[in-house]
Amino acid sequence: MSNQTNADLLLTAEENQALLDTWGIIAKDLKGYGSKYFIYFFKQYPHYQLQFKSFAKVPLEELTENRRFKAHAFTLMSALNGFIENLDDVEMLDELLLKTGENHAKRKLAQEDFVVRF
Ligand code: HEM
Repeated sequence: MSNQTNADLLLTAEENQALLDTWGIIAKDLKGYGSKYFIYFFKQYPHYQLQFKSFAKVPLEELTENRRFKAHAFTLMSALNGFIENLDDVEMLDELLLKTGENHAKRKLAQEDFVVRF
């Protein structure tokens, strides 16, 4: 475990605890919440679905039965889970975020693509 504290991440102890508490609910069903999240995301931002070649044209109501979609939703949720599990290990968290950013930059996704509002 790192010697760095949550203060390094600019999270207060309360914010950190709130994240852990709320994520605890989601972590019980990463697959279910992952699929629900992505369908909501694609409803709000339909153009993003086109980035996902393997299910770009699949109608929203059919996505929950699409195995590539389900696997991707779970992969993203697992990545988020990894971030949350490492809130107390700044070095690891930094590396995980960097890797995610690099992988998405290769796909021509930009920083603003990560700043979507709900
Ligand atoms: C915190 C936000 C996000 C996380 C944690 C995340 C995580 C991931 C992970 C783990 C993968 C698969 C492994 C990899 O190549 O890195 C992936 C693939 C991908 N992500 Fe993200 N992602 C995020 C946001 C986004 C956004 C905003 C978009 C915009 C459309 C996006 C588009 C994609 C695409 C197109 C792929 C490739 C899917 C394929 O295999 O065909 N991601 N993402």
